[in-house]
Amino acid sequence: MTKRIGVLTAGGDCPGLNAAIRGVGKTAQGTYDMRVLGFRDGFRGLVENRVVDLDRAKLSGILTIGGTILGTSRDKPHKMRVDGRNVDMTDVIVRNYAANHLDALVCLGGGGTQKNALVLQEHGLNVITLPKTIDNDVGLTDVSFGFDTALGIATDAIDRLHSTAHSHHRIIVVEIMGHRSGWLALGAGMAGGADVILLPEIPYDIQAVAKAVTDRVRYGLNFSIVAVAEGAMSMQDAARVQDYQQRIALAQERGDRKARKKAKAELKAFEASGADQHTLRLTRQLEALTGLESRPTILGHLQRGGTPSAADRLLATRLGSVCADLIDAGHYGVMVAARGDSAEPVPLEQVAGNKKLVPPDHPWVKSAKNVGICLGVGV
Ligand code: F6P
Repeated sequence: MTKRIGVLTAGGDCPGLNAAIRGVGKTAQGTYDMRVLGFRDGFRGLVENRVVDLDRAKLSGILTIGGTILGTSRDKPHKMRVDGRNVDMTDVIVRNYAANHLDALVCLGGGGTQKNALVLQEHGLNVITLPKTIDNDVGLTDVSFGFDTALGIATDAIDRLHSTAHSHHRIIVVEIMGHRSGWLALGAGMAGGADVILLPEIPYDIQAVAKAVTDRVRYGLNFSIVAVAEGAMSMQDAARVQDYQQRIALAQERGDRKARKKAKAELKAFEASGADQHTLRLTRQLEALTGLESRPTILGHLQRGGTPSAADRLLATRLGSVCADLIDAGHYGVMVAARGDSAEPVPLEQVAGNKKLVPPDHPWVKSAKNVGICLGVGV
């Protein structure tokens, strides 16, 4: 019997999503004669049953297009904003899955999507996921699609910023996306020849950063590029966050829900208050400490836009194609992970909540140090 599969894209958009939809859809239709349906705007489209037939014509001409033809959202099945309140819509999703006679649901997304997909799998749906994110922080896959394109964009931006830094003898602080993980800042910083790279995984000492800049001035290099990940933190801020996290863990241990909620709210407020100002504050601090004129540049969503790179198109196509193979074999409850030149299924239970952070002893970190890049520590 012809299998019917649903596809959705959830979380932030990124280059390569359309290539992945196409990879799943073309293999499912062409090789296995399956019927492919798309749901609009992530899990919300599945709740509201906004469905589109992904026929051959819809899958054609999308390989090189950025974003997602299906639309996306950050809505979670178990906590969806409906009429101004958070409602658990999982049962509605289960009903719509059945109403559309689906044999499988393919969810393309990052860390949050992997967790949401697991919840649906536990509710009896046949779910299979693909890893996408410019942050490259989905666990148990070598790489996620979207990362390579963003790496190219951020590197190109650093290349261009060098002209102004050099000509005006300035510090340029360039903020690169990545709230919890610094793969993009580290990769683009190294490829773009940044002098300082600050990551969420390695809390920095502002004095060490200032010293790296003034040391360069002593060698006649009176400009510097500081690549800072969105979630990078000073040692002081990191200590405060650790403090909140300890309070949350302690309250959890004691079963004190009120104290846990309070500490979580305080942590959220602390993170929100500092986050959007962090790069500006860092820029001002460096200007004051070094005497060099300093300017911030926030790359923001530019990093998620435009045509996917060849590497991302290739990755998304091969993962999408293997995804259809697995559906044909009835292999569900897994993420299709990139493993070298091939791909392999990894159980969703292992992927959900498994964030891939930059290990402080990672070979990229070692090489960065070896070529004299300051990572914000060691005055
Ligand atoms: O997860 C990808 C990502 O681009 C992060 O790097 C960034 O912190 C976040 O999404 C931004 O999300 P939004 O587009 O919702 O502002």
